[in-house]
Amino acid sequence: MAIKRIGVLTSGGDAPGMNACVRSVVRSALYHGIECYGIRRGWNGLIHGDILRLDERSVGHIINRGGTILYTARSTEFMTAEGQEKAVGTCKFLGLDGIIAIGGDGTFRGAQALSKYGIPVIGIPATIDNDICCSNYCIGFDTAANTAIECIDKLRDTMQSHERCSVVEVMGRNAGYLAMYVGLATGATAVLVPEEPIDFDHDVIEKIRQARLNGFTHYMIVVAEGAGSAAQIAAKIKEEIDLDPRVTVLGHIQRGGTPSARDRVNATKMGYRAVELLLGGASSRIICTHNGVITDVDIDEGLSMAKSIQQEEVDVLQTMTGI
Ligand code: F6P
Repeated sequence: MAIKRIGVLTSGGDAPGMNACVRSVVRSALYHGIECYGIRRGWNGLIHGDILRLDERSVGHIINRGGTILYTARSTEFMTAEGQEKAVGTCKFLGLDGIIAIGGDGTFRGAQALSKYGIPVIGIPATIDNDICCSNYCIGFDTAANTAIECIDKLRDTMQSHERCSVVEVMGRNAGYLAMYVGLATGATAVLVPEEPIDFDHDVIEKIRQARLNGFTHYMIVVAEGAGSAAQIAAKIKEEIDLDPRVTVLGHIQRGGTPSARDRVNATKMGYRAVELLLGGASSRIICTHNGVITDVDIDEGLSMAKSIQQEEVDVLQTMTGI
């Protein structure tokens, strides 16, 4: 079937670089003479026909903008058969020959459901959590990591002056990829992630003691939100050692901001690749990176894969933090 018209949407938590990806999808489609429609507010927009035609200019100067011009949402309605049937109806009514869905795990589950109705769907991984199992890299991770690093570097200045302990909570939902990466980059005293068992005395208190023995007078503890709350960890530290830690929850600040070069370029390559796949007759695929190379995988297969923190990162952190 010749592809004449496609839709693009962003869904789930936003991620810096989503706009660069939307731009790439639109420009790649137009290059091939394919019409492109933006679907607003994720899968909800497909259910309710909340769409707009996108031309060259509508995606001008968005490569550098955080957030998503298409808005985003998590749709509970789309998780029902009724919602999915309505979305299929919208695709048929509007003559959409394929959908490109930019987002995370939930977005891909939606894509998987829609593809079972015979609509070609390609998913592009974009989430600061970097927790898409079939892909080493997700759009937004690099920018979010750099934002968190910048914040922690600033915190370190004041922690150093006051000889304090800081407990910083980093986003990631149930995953610790962001926290681990940020902890390595900021030279944290300890990093707690949900993927690794936590022995509080060994993994936090002993590391602080060791740092103190080595002559340090301020301590940075990075905790992934999935591994516990920074407030509780700070309270526990206070109970066990003569420190009065300050708590910082970085929160949604990590999801905003100008996308990094890495996020812009990968988003552009991934958007291009998604359109090429649709043109080639592919359906139900997820774009992913494997050892730095952009490739793609079947949606069912991609969603059934498992991923964990790289052992190398755990080992390096262990060595850097001394015990
Ligand atoms: O999945 C991205 C993410 O930012 C997670 O890291 C976080 O747990 C969640 O979304 C926050 O969601 P919301 O924006 O709905 O508060």
